[in-house]
Amino acid sequence: MKQTTAVILAAHPAQTFVASDLTLGTIDLPELTPGTALVRNQYMSLDPSTRGRMDPGEKQYTTNFEIGSPLDGSAIGIVEESASELLPVGSTVRHRLGWREYAVVDDATATICDLSLAPTVSWLSSMGQTGFTAYAGLLPVGQLAAGDTVLVTGAGGAVGSMVGQFARLLGAGRVIGSAGGAEKCTWLTNECGFDEVINYRDEDFATELPKLAPEGIDLFFDNVGGWQFAAALHNMKIRGRISMCGAVSNFGTQEQPSIAVLIEAVLRRLTITGFIVRDYEDLRPEFEKKVSGWLASGQLIDRATIAEGIGAAGAGLEGLLSGANFGKALVRLSD
Ligand SMILES: NC(=O)c1ccc[n+]([C@@H]2O[C@H](COP(=O)([O-])OP(=O)(O)OC[C@H]3O[C@@H](n4cnc5c(N)ncnc54)[C@H](OP(=O)(O)O)[C@@H]3O)[C@@H](O)[C@H]2O)c1
Repeated sequence: MKQTTAVILAAHPAQTFVASDLTLGTIDLPELTPGTALVRNQYMSLDPSTRGRMDPGEKQYTTNFEIGSPLDGSAIGIVEESASELLPVGSTVRHRLGWREYAVVDDATATICDLSLAPTVSWLSSMGQTGFTAYAGLLPVGQLAAGDTVLVTGAGGAVGSMVGQFARLLGAGRVIGSAGGAEKCTWLTNECGFDEVINYRDEDFATELPKLAPEGIDLFFDNVGGWQFAAALHNMKIRGRISMCGAVSNFGTQEQPSIAVLIEAVLRRLTITGFIVRDYEDLRPEFEKKVSGWLASGQLIDRATIAEGIGAAGAGLEGLLSGANFGKALVRLSD
């Protein structure tokens, strides 16, 4: 029986995740059966949702990890052995069995990636679930319209950096972001086309936002929740729209604002829509066509912060949750 090195949940994190909540272990790989293939993983995605899945108890849209069991998540790699006509040896495939060096994947849950459209790394970032989340949250969910003033929190991260750039490419009038640290904010304004970015670590977001959007915000794409969500509510235009994508500030230790702030949604007649990207799969072909075109024409910056080797995965996730990543956070598992 073949085996592989995998990342195992060693302990449920205290509120703040630390890399020592994870450990490396060896797991058995199943024998190939018809419709499956052995994949050597090259890159795996680091995602805030992985932190949520480490808590005890079921979440509503996916399973949680158990102590002593391997983690999983998006990954991309090369088929080395195959018992599937759909996954030929040598092809590059994206699948859900990351956090391990090798995986036996089912052709029903793996996607062939065309490297003539985008490089390997982009299939996990701008062309992957990250970019697709930005696309779904802006268009079907957020109803982005030409000329809109758009605000995105977590702007320097994977989803946020795509939201700002897509919004600009899709005709937004003004794009405002928030991110942690001067270097990240400068990258977003100088290279990614944001008009303004608030460094929420050094500046007071609630004080700065009305200065940058005196007329108010049409569309707010929220990755962060908490105090930034509360402050943004007070700066929405009447009948503004909010795409609720995530709430990474929930994983911190800061006290959260009262739900009483939601009265602003009434006063401003807001539409607030929470969404999960997998509900929009029918848009995947148009999304891939648009984004591969933007990449080919050099209009889109697809930056990744890459940790080296499976042993660095825990530290990479710790870094992601504390803002160390510019753009997409990945781990390189093999060449
Ligand atoms: N709804 C869906 O279907 C869906 C799909 C994918 C992702 N998501 C959500 O989208 C959001 C972004 O995910 P991502 O993969 O792109 O992660 P990411 O933004 O690349 O990484 C997380 C970032 O959050 C920021 N952050 C951490 N703690 C914070 C805090 N207390 N307050 C403000 N910012 C904080 C950090 O950047 P700073 O340097 O700015 O602090 C960090 O880089 C997450 O909420 C995730 O759960 C939702």
